[in-house]
Parts: sequence; C-alpha cells; structure tokens
Amino acid sequence: MKPIIFIAASLACFSASAVAQQEKKTVNVYTTRHYDADQKLAAEFQKKTGINVRIVQIKEPAQLLSRVIEEKEKSEADIIMTTDVGNLWRASEAGLFQPLSSTVVSKGVPSAFRDSGDLWTGLAMRVRLIAFNNQKVKPEQVARLENLTAPEFKGRLLVRSSNHVYNQSLAATLFAAIGRDGLLAWSKGVTANLARKPQGGDTDQIKAIAAGEGDVAIVNSYYVARLLDSQNNPDKELMKNISVVFPNQKDRGAHVNLSGAGITKHAKNVAEARLFIEFLVSPAGQEIFADASKEYPVRADAKAPAVLRQFGQPKLDLKGLALIGKHTPDAVRVLDEAGWR
Ligand SMILES: [Fe+2]
Repeated sequence: MKPIIFIAASLACFSASAVAQQEKKTVNVYTTRHYDADQKLAAEFQKKTGINVRIVQIKEPAQLLSRVIEEKEKSEADIIMTTDVGNLWRASEAGLFQPLSSTVVSKGVPSAFRDSGDLWTGLAMRVRLIAFNNQKVKPEQVARLENLTAPEFKGRLLVRSSNHVYNQSLAATLFAAIGRDGLLAWSKGVTANLARKPQGGDTDQIKAIAAGEGDVAIVNSYYVARLLDSQNNPDKELMKNISVVFPNQKDRGAHVNLSGAGITKHAKNVAEARLFIEFLVSPAGQEIFADASKEYPVRADAKAPAVLRQFGQPKLDLKGLALIGKHTPDAVRVLDEAGWR
C-alpha cells in the first residue's frame, strides 16, 4: 500500500511572508496509525504553535522502519510513531532515534512507559486480554493465561499467528515471568488447544467466538472496545455473548504494550518534533490520542475512553513491559520450537 500524505491545512488566509514563515516550521511524522483524530491532533498543534504537521502514513511497522533505514540521513522523518514496544525496540536497535531530552515528557509520562535510554516515549497503552463466550465459559476459568493450556480448552482456543509482534511481545514477557521452559510448555499447550490454525487479526478471533468456532481468544483491548463502541449494529450484536477478563490480576498483572514515538536520529526539525511529542503527552493531547484508537492514556491524570473505563482498572505487568526488547529474540525461537505458526 502506498503511503498517504496530508498536510494539516491552514484555515485562514495569510500574507505571503506569513505563509513563508509557516512553511519554515514543519514536523514530519512517519506513522503506522491511521485515524481521523490524528488530523485533529495535528490541527490543534498547528493552532497552538504555528507548526505544520506533515503526516506520512505507512501501514506496516516493518515497512516504516525499513523506509527510514533506507533513506538514511536523507530521510524527511522527524518522528517515528508506531505500535508495540517490539517495533519501538527494533527502531532503537537499528539506531533510528536520538534522545528525546524533554523534561515535559519525563515529568508527564511515568518511567515504566518510556524507554530507559530516553529514545522513545509511550503515547498510549493496550492490554492483551482474554475474550470469551460468557454462555460457555466462566471468568474464573480464564483468570490466568496459564489456564488456557488446560485440557478443558482443547479445540476451543483462538489466537492469531505467532509471527505477529503482539504475540511475540507477549511471549517475551512470559519468558521473563516463567522462563524458557515455562514459555515452551505454555506455547505447546496453546497450540494443542487451538480451535483452528492461526489466521487473521485480533478482530477475526473475536468474530470466530461469535460464530461459535471457538470459545476463548487472546486479543488486544482496543479491538474489543472498538466493536463495543461501533455505530454498526452487526458489530454490537457480535459482542452480545462475549465478555473479557484482564488475565493474571492476582499475580504479575496483564500483559501491557504501548503505542509510542521518538525523534529520529537524522531529524531536520528536532525542536518542532520535541514540541509535537510534548503536545501528545499533554493531558488534552492524551485524551484525543487514546480516544481515537480506544487505547489507555499513559498519563495518570488523563481519562481513558468511556468504553474502556467500564472494564475497571487493570493491574499491569510492568516488569514484563520493561523486558520485551531483551527477551523477544529468545521468545520467538521458543514459539517456533513449540510449533505455534
Ligand atoms: Fe492492532
């Protein structure tokens, strides 16, 4: 898919010199997000600062990273914005970021949701939770991820491919929590209990529960929230017999992951990029950002979307979150060994 480009439009007419001045100040954001609200954020920021936000949308995180790598110092990207710590970690490892050096960010965003080397900050959170058919499964049966390998779930489990970063990051946190052997046994148990060969995205797993193909799925919180919040009746209907639990609430907490952003190493507009990220972590920016994607804000004083607040406040596996980058390569090898495709 070709990247779509738009420039936050100026609403008023400016004199030629004002326009020239305006054009001087631009921040270029390469993002895998694709929400109308991102245009609203860009417009708000422009209104406040006079800085244009040029958004380059690239569908796949891997595509975005390889493009910035290939463009080297010629890259126009000032900011890389993407989902999943696994992708942010890959960008860090590839040397694509420079330090954020912002006290606004370090004061506003809890350290658990920022890179320890200051190369990126989280902008919103997602929890990988368990969705289940509430006519056939009781919440206590799926209270822990470890429960999903029990024989009672044989032929009833739904989850996307282990090639996807969401499952790889989850596996990295399990590697940290239960070790290599624990992860291997868990992955084999999950594979043995699958209702069907892994296929589709997280929404497809939820749809498969509604269609009766399986009873329990591992999915990200925002997919559930989007279906519940949908204006489309069939989507709402789909959720009629589906409930969710945040797993591992009595032990390590649920697997949490982030959407985030960093300033690129070869950014031409560093000050503008920093200001835009500072705007995104402001309480107002956070609420618009999180609401667009039905994620949780990373700031404690910003409100989560109403559809998520109804689930309550989950306990999060913050220890695991910090170890995703470190354990991903080992975890991916274990997933392969377990035969989870
Ligand atoms: Fe997603």
